[in-house]
Amino acid sequence: MKKNLIHHTILAIESSCDDTSAAIIKDDVVLSNVVASQDVHRLYGGIVPEVASRAHQNNIIPVVDQALKDAQTTVHQLDAVAFTRGPGLIGSLIVGMTFAKSLALSQGIPLIEVNHLQAHVLSAFAQKPYPDFPFLCLTVSGGHTQIVLVQSPLDMKIIGRSIDDAAGEAFDKSGKMMGLDYPAGPLIDKLAQKGTPIFEFPQPRIQGYNYSFSGIKTAIKYFLRDQVAENPDFIQDNMADIAASIQHRIVTILLQKLRKAARHLNINQITIAGGVSANSYLRKKLKEMGEKERWTTYIPPFEYCTDNAGMIAVAARFKYLEGEFVDHSVAPLSKWTI
Ligand code: KG4
Ligand code: ZN
Repeated sequence: MKKNLIHHTILAIESSCDDTSAAIIKDDVVLSNVVASQDVHRLYGGIVPEVASRAHQNNIIPVVDQALKDAQTTVHQLDAVAFTRGPGLIGSLIVGMTFAKSLALSQGIPLIEVNHLQAHVLSAFAQKPYPDFPFLCLTVSGGHTQIVLVQSPLDMKIIGRSIDDAAGEAFDKSGKMMGLDYPAGPLIDKLAQKGTPIFEFPQPRIQGYNYSFSGIKTAIKYFLRDQVAENPDFIQDNMADIAASIQHRIVTILLQKLRKAARHLNINQITIAGGVSANSYLRKKLKEMGEKERWTTYIPPFEYCTDNAGMIAVAARFKYLEGEFVDHSVAPLSKWTI
């Protein structure tokens, strides 16, 4: 396949979960990043895979169209098409992948597969300044919580991970117990801004750089049950303080392990990625910790935190430069580690 190393324009598609997204990158500049969120899942209190696949099918053409328009690019100018191969919901991934294959075939251009988690880590390169290598990335999403050691764009290793729930799941499940809609993470963030973390939830004792969030979920459950038994309006009366307390505990757990890893490995370039990295308290506390620890912290703009094709485009560009293309027999992967 021909490669243009000096100038290249890539279309990237992300459809691993409930957001349909398309982005255009030209050289190292993300020209457009369009995301269609599927609000329909709120009705069910979680993502319904079948509903997600159908919504991707409806969204994909308008979203790609908009991404091309925003970037003032035509399909004929594309040098490659990239898609998320996994991890994610198979039915959702198939929609993005099949679209990418068809477009690549019709234009006679290469196809690039991207690992969704690797793309989250590389979202630090969606905007300058870029981190230096090696750096540590705390990836915190609805499905994953990882500390990743990144040696070069395509050479990364997970050095710590959650042994049970992901940080985003901890936010979402705690919020559900408070009667909040799905996904509760952003709602807890908003409520917490008016509250104080006055309620104490336990700090898990887990070895190394690993995490555990199931204990805090259970602690919150029994705390709320006991308080509600005494005062049926407890949750309603203390919404902001409960949210602030939950958020404080989750964020403290996340940052303590990150600090431990950075100190042991003597790394001072730190990034965050994934949906939970949109959390305002995490961003504030990471900045404060970074100043104390003399880190250079890279906190991505909100649009590159939650699922988006911009980060897929960034990862795809690194692969393009290495000539890492896939043939059309490729199939999606529900599980795929980095
Ligand atoms: O990366 P992402 O968009 O999707 C996955 O790949 O999982 O992450 C979604 C997760 C959800 O659990 C959501 O509640 C959480 O990110 N999230 C937040 C915030 N915004 C999104 N959690 C806490 N505070 C936020 N502001
Ligand atoms: Zn994600």
